[in-house]
Parts: sequence; structure tokens; C-alpha cells
Amino acid sequence: MLHPFLLAFLLAVFSAATQAVSLFDGLRNANATKFAQWIESDAALVAIFTAPGIRTVFAPSDDVAEDFNKTGHRLLRMRDTSMIERGASIQCSESSCNSSTLGTPPGSVLGTKDGNDISSHASNEPNPLRSRHLSTHPIRIFSGLGNSVSVVKGDTPFDGGLIQTIDGFFTIPQSFSSTFRIKNLTNFNAGIQTAGLSSTVDDPAGLTVFATTNDVFQAGTGNSTSPTQLAGVLSNHIVPGFRGYRPLLVDGATLTTKAGTNLTVHIRNGEYFINEARIIASDLITTNGVAHVLDKVCHISLLLSRPGVNRLLIDSPTSTCGFHRLELVNEPN
Ligand SMILES: *[C@@H]1O[C@H](CO)[C@@H](O)[C@H](O)[C@H]1NC(C)=O
Ligand SMILES: *[C@@H]1O[C@H](CO)[C@@H](O)[C@H](O)[C@H]1NC(C)=O
Ligand SMILES: *[C@@H]1O[C@H](CO)[C@@H](O)[C@H](O)[C@H]1NC(C)=O
Ligand SMILES: *[C@@H]1O[C@H](CO)[C@@H](O)[C@H](O)[C@H]1NC(C)=O
Ligand SMILES: *[C@@H]1O[C@H](CO)[C@@H](O)[C@H](O)[C@H]1NC(C)=O
Ligand SMILES: *[C@@H]1O[C@H](CO)[C@@H](O)[C@H](O)[C@H]1NC(C)=O
Repeated sequence: MLHPFLLAFLLAVFSAATQAVSLFDGLRNANATKFAQWIESDAALVAIFTAPGIRTVFAPSDDVAEDFNKTGHRLLRMRDTSMIERGASIQCSESSCNSSTLGTPPGSVLGTKDGNDISSHASNEPNPLRSRHLSTHPIRIFSGLGNSVSVVKGDTPFDGGLIQTIDGFFTIPQSFSSTFRIKNLTNFNAGIQTAGLSSTVDDPAGLTVFATTNDVFQAGTGNSTSPTQLAGVLSNHIVPGFRGYRPLLVDGATLTTKAGTNLTVHIRNGEYFINEARIIASDLITTNGVAHVLDKVCHISLLLSRPGVNRLLIDSPTSTCGFHRLELVNEPN
């Protein structure tokens, strides 16, 4: 028979081990005390983060800013309640994740409470024999405008799930056109408008757009000024119906563009290529999809093969995405 004191001791240890950890205690354990205070200062924020379905909270660490009461509201442009909801809702998710799911190459995609996705990138395979070291196996998480933060402390438990401490706030995604404007991809953005593809890139069904920098766009399309020609070229840069966040781009995968052409993903030494174009900035997450920035314009044409007399047109612009423009067209009789 157990001594009553021993029994009491065991009970105390057992209840301590199973004791609930509120989100706010969890945040303090996660080095996110200021974030906890910021949430506690506003009933609307408390309601969002303590909603029953929340499984993951991405908490900016205490090092991120002096005063979260100012920073949080400024970063999230919280002038009205809809922005409070969106800004806070992107920092939490109803999906479970841990530093293993986020940090196993190539990374993973997670839906946040505000309806937008975030995308984690991990390049080094974690060593299963040792505890994870975030300094040698960094996890970066991408959000709106392609902005990214690093996980500085992983997997702090709370009642609902886990807290991931990060070194900044996520960025609320915007439309493709706002994203291109803010990221100075203005020539590409103007090209999309001239080509009459604005409604295509606003498609709420989701899409991937391979944009280019201004110089690359100029070099690759400089002489294709007609809207029809531009639409022909830029349709090769749009993959409808697929949100191709970087972790979902698998080596050798084929992506069918709006033009009906196929792009092939290549991964070489950790670098991502679309045909022969290198991705120089990835995961600019928008409200309805994702953009990556290429270092070449893709001039690809469908090989049209119809009965009748055909004529072969070959045109090789100086800056292409690895394909010569190749068209087989019907000669009128
Ligand atoms: C968390 O805070 C403690 C105490 O302030 C500090 O010793 C520790 O280095 C911090 N950890 C991280 C990951 O910032
Ligand atoms: C933020 O505001 C809350 C309530 O208004 C306050 O309790 C807390 O101390 C403030 N935090 C900081 C860092 O000023
Ligand atoms: C992380 O999450 C995955 C998927 O939910 C799960 O299979 C795995 O066991 C978890 N790993 C750890 C270390 O908790
Ligand atoms: C934007 O692109 C233009 C044209 O390439 C360039 O002249 C300008 O310096 C860029 N602006 C920024 C802020 O990068
Ligand atoms: C555009 O025209 C100029 C002059 O005719 C030529 O040098 C250049 O290669 C052309 N660029 C493209 C992309 O076709
Ligand atoms: C593109 O790829 C798909 C799937 O791999 C294939 O069915 C289709 O025929 C290809 N289209 C072209 C134009 O090569």
C-alpha cells in the first residue's frame, strides 16, 4: 500500500504533467510575451486566437519589436475591424503542423485562418539522430509579397496545439496586380493588362503566374508590342487552376499553361528552373494564388499540326525560356 504522502506526491506530479496550458501561458513559454500582451489588449484578437479550432499559432518573438501594441496595429494596418481579423487570422491556422512537417525538404504548405496559404521552405534534411537545430536547419515561411520569416523556436505546446515562434509578422497577401506593382514588376504587370489577361490573373479558382523583372521583360518582349502577340507570350507564364507554391513544384513535373503549352520544372542543386528559366524569387503569395519571378521570358508556341499544306515559322528571340518559338501553321489555299 502506498504511503498517503507518496500518493499525494504522485497525484500532484500527474496532474502537473497533464495540466492545461492556456494559449497565453504557451506564448510566454514560446518567448512571445509581447505578442500575448498584444492579443490580450483587444477582445477581437482574443476571440480569433482562442477560437476552439486553432491548432497552430505563429507568434512573433519578443525580439521583433519594442512595442507590439504599436507595431502589430501598424504592420497589419488595423484601421478597421476587417483588417484586424485578416491580420490576426493569418498568424494562426486550424491545421496542425510541427517543425518536422515545416522543416522537412522541400517544405510544406499550410492554410491559415484568414483563407490564405503560407509556404515553408527547408533545404537541409534534418538529422533524425539529433534534436533539430534551427540555426543549421533553418525553416523560412513565405507569405504575401514573397516576404519571409524564420522559425526561431519550434513546437511550444498549448492546449489547442503548437506555437511556432517566428522573427516577424506574416504579410497579408494582395492581388497579383498589387503584388507586381509593390515588387516593381511593373513592366510585366503592364503587359498583363495590355494583353487583356487581367481577369485571368484575378481568377478566384487559383493560379500560378511566372513573372519577370522589368529588364528581363523588356529584353524578352521588347518588339512584341501588339496585344495579341503579348497575350500569346504571356499566356505561357500562367498556369490556371494550380497554386504552385514552391514546395509543390516537383522535379520533372509538367505544368500546362493557359496557352496550352507545357512547362517543365527542374530542380538542380536546390535551384528551381522552369524549362531553362531560373526562379530568382519564389512564393510571392497572393489572395488567389502564387507568383514566382523568372530570369527569362518564355516564348513557346504550340506545335499546330493540321492536314493541309503547312509552313514552318522559326523565330528565336534573344531571351527565351529554353524553347525556340516554333510554329507550324496552315498556308491558306
Ligand atoms: C527565450 O527567452 C529566454 C529568456 O529570456 C532566453 O534565454 C532564450 O534564449 C530565448 N530563446 C529564444 C529562442 O529566443
Ligand atoms: C499593450 O496594451 C495592453 C493593454 O492595453 C497593456 O496591458 C500592455 O502592457 C501593453 N504592452 C506593451 C508592451 O506596452
Ligand atoms: C509532426 O506532424 C506529423 C503530421 O501531423 C506527424 O506525423 C509527426 O509525428 C509529428 N512529429 C512530431 C515530432 O511531433
Ligand atoms: C524598378 O525597375 C526599374 C526598371 O527596371 C528600375 O529603373 C528601378 O530602379 C526599379 N525600382 C526599384 C525600387 O527597384
Ligand atoms: C528587337 O528588335 C531589335 C532591333 O530590330 C533587335 O536587335 C532585338 O533583338 C529584338 N528583340 C527581340 C526580343 O526580338
Ligand atoms: C502537356 O502535358 C500533358 C500531361 O503531361 C499532356 O497530356 C499534354 O499532351 C501535353 N501537351 C503538350 C502541348 O505537349
